[in-house]
Amino acid sequence: MPSPVRLVVASSNPGKLREYQALAAGHPIELQLFPEFDSLPSFEEIYLTFAENAAGKALHYSRHSALPVIADDSGLVVPALGGAPGPKSARYAGAGASDAERVNKLLEELRGKSGEERRARFVCIQVLAQAGKVVAVFSDFVEGMLLDAPRGAGGFGYDPLFLYEPLGKTFAEIPREQKNQFSHRGKSFRKLLAFLAS
Ligand code: IMP
Repeated sequence: MPSPVRLVVASSNPGKLREYQALAAGHPIELQLFPEFDSLPSFEEIYLTFAENAAGKALHYSRHSALPVIADDSGLVVPALGGAPGPKSARYAGAGASDAERVNKLLEELRGKSGEERRARFVCIQVLAQAGKVVAVFSDFVEGMLLDAPRGAGGFGYDPLFLYEPLGKTFAEIPREQKNQFSHRGKSFRKLLAFLAS
């Protein structure tokens, strides 16, 4: 049995760590958060693309870590809104707003749009970096349609509006393990796992 690969997730969010640990279950990989994340100089995700935010974050935190670092950026892209909320997905309704406020803002922006204009995709970029160098970049996406009212109590963020058509359910109406099979983050992370295995 090879010894596990140890990686640090560039986040202070235990929920994100748990999500990655669930995705990595059964693989020889050990994930942890930075114990001192909040006292490190922070990285501002101010860039206009997911890739710049994820790579910038991975490089920044890898300079403060003896272990390789994974950083990600993700969000919802709505082509009919010029790609919004995009890399600003977390701040779409302003700093400190809730998921419900972001969902309402999106519904507001989508008012009057129907059919293909409500098509959207969740995008995720994950960057693996070590000692100030990018080792590899992974990404994936999942397409869906945005409903005109939230449905379901699970998930987070924009999940209650995101209808995954093959199941006829929103991402908030399916269990987390099932979402992970189809989600942008799950698909991208499986590429990272395959890379580590190789
Ligand atoms: P970050 O990648 O942690 O910066 O998150 C970006 C934002 O995109 C989140 O705060 C959510 O609003 C949104 N987002 C990213 N992935 C998902 C998802 O799987 N479901 C719902 N919203 C998501």
